[in-house]
Amino acid sequence: MIKRPASSFDLNSYLILKRKKVNAFINEILNNAANSSRIVQAMHYSLMAGGKRVRPILCIAASEAVGGNADGVLPAACALEMIHTYSLIHDDLPAMDNDDLRRGKPTCHVAFDEATAILSGDALLTLAFRILSSINLINSSNWLKVIHKISFAAGHNGMIGGQMRDIASENTLLSLKELEDMHSLKTGALIEASIFSGALLGGGNQKQLDQLEIYAKNIGLAFQVTDDILNIEGDPAVMGKAAGTDNARGKSTYPSIMGLGKSKEFAKKLLHNALQALDNFDNNSNSLRAIARYIIEREK
Ligand code: IPE
Ligand code: IPE
Ligand code: MG
Ligand code: MG
Repeated sequence: MIKRPASSFDLNSYLILKRKKVNAFINEILNNAANSSRIVQAMHYSLMAGGKRVRPILCIAASEAVGGNADGVLPAACALEMIHTYSLIHDDLPAMDNDDLRRGKPTCHVAFDEATAILSGDALLTLAFRILSSINLINSSNWLKVIHKISFAAGHNGMIGGQMRDIASENTLLSLKELEDMHSLKTGALIEASIFSGALLGGGNQKQLDQLEIYAKNIGLAFQVTDDILNIEGDPAVMGKAAGTDNARGKSTYPSIMGLGKSKEFAKKLLHNALQALDNFDNNSNSLRAIARYIIEREK
């Protein structure tokens, strides 16, 4: 198999193109938000505040890597972004991380009010499953598997379980194993579900799904390790959210437990493992290769 070096892949153009697709789909669903009720305005505000769209784009890229295309997975991709956005709205609430800035704008509870922020998160989570279950019946058994996977990943065995551990472990010292488990749940699970959904709906075979699961586990963890590093070193103006907050709140993070240098080495190791899992994939997975690099090299 002749492979083009992944480094020649133009990730920037790819991200712009896919973000456009994702944003168009989301806008269509929340049609005319400007003239609509307060709750829809709040949902639209947070969804369109300028997120990177990593999860929906991973879903699309995983589909393409196995021969599928973006249009075939867009409902899943956008549902994942809605769940992610809801998790951020709630993560920023005073009862949780109490943050004022998200995606370069005042957080939902600051721009609206706390009750509206709680409800808009609830509504986004619910809307995600309405979208997932509104697809036509072609390949419905695969869509059912996707709904199961995403609901598992978003719930108490996944993201919410991880968020609960994150809150419970403030001002306590976690072991490395406990930290890895927490990160894999709070951030890794939804990223893993994004890649699984794209790959399954794109027509991937079991061997490809297995390899992509390894890729996903590694970049999922790398994503949160990098988030922890950026919380120390990142520029708030670039990130669109505050820095230094983990330390201020006594969060257990990779840098707090193993130090900044070792955390960076660890992120590189995870990238290496992720790329290795793609060894048997052709050039159609160059987007996945480039996204894996981007995940640990990003500045926001
Ligand atoms: C931030 O996620 C929260 C984590 C799970 C680490 P992103 O870095 O993907 O945030 P947006 O969507 O681009 O705002
Ligand atoms: C957010 O984690 C994870 C979820 C919302 C599930 P963090 O609290 O570490 O992320 P940021 O730094 O606020 O984006
Ligand atoms: Mg948090
Ligand atoms: Mg937070």
